[in-house]
Amino acid sequence: MSGRIDVHSHLIPGIDDGCANLEQSITCARVLVDAGFTHAFCTPHVWTNLPENTPASIVRRTAELQAHFDAAGVALQVLPGGELNLGPEIANMRAPDVVSYAMGGKFCLFDLWADELPDFFEAAVRHLQSLGLKLVLAHPERMKAAQDDPGAVERMQELGLLLQGNLQCFIDPEDWATRRTAVKFLLDRRYTFLATDTHRPDSLPQRMHGLRRAIELAGHEEVTRLTVENPRMLLDAAGSNGQGSD
Ligand SMILES: [Fe+2]
Repeated sequence: MSGRIDVHSHLIPGIDDGCANLEQSITCARVLVDAGFTHAFCTPHVWTNLPENTPASIVRRTAELQAHFDAAGVALQVLPGGELNLGPEIANMRAPDVVSYAMGGKFCLFDLWADELPDFFEAAVRHLQSLGLKLVLAHPERMKAAQDDPGAVERMQELGLLLQGNLQCFIDPEDWATRRTAVKFLLDRRYTFLATDTHRPDSLPQRMHGLRRAIELAGHEEVTRLTVENPRMLLDAAGSNGQGSD
């Protein structure tokens, strides 16, 4: 049995804009454990300007982080993953080069930075799907296209995307579109996952506050579905290729 499973975090130190050093990683992991997380997928940014963040290096860095957590007595199991930034170059990617949950080749987390869905969006999504991947879209509530157009999220779901909301958005200022959109998606049961998107210790209190707010809004049962039950499908993908276990 697992507790909460964080499907989006930047805990590996020094490889993106997440934790800057091991001390920060351990501090963040302890906060996650206190909030009921037993597992976290390490999903560093995979950007064209971060060429060292490859599936092989992330697997190695995750194992190193696990050894440090074990030595420090931090009861958090970490698994490799990545947050693939969607760009036109995706159309040329081969399956072994794509980061996926537990590098199992079944589920892939991606994000997109654009006010409007770019021309390459659907082609890139379909290419990744043709590699056998089920796609998880990170924090759609931060995408202007999803905020402004109620039909946009329906089209994303028709494309087969699973939506992952960021906990922090539930405590953004009340008049922010991110909060309005996140609350609507939560109450409309659009999300498959809620995650912390942990970067560094300084923003963790807000992320944990967001978890409590999500429970106030949708109830324990729904938040358990989004942080425990649904993420287990990603752990199952991990177990099937030997990259991790429950
Ligand atoms: Fe992220």
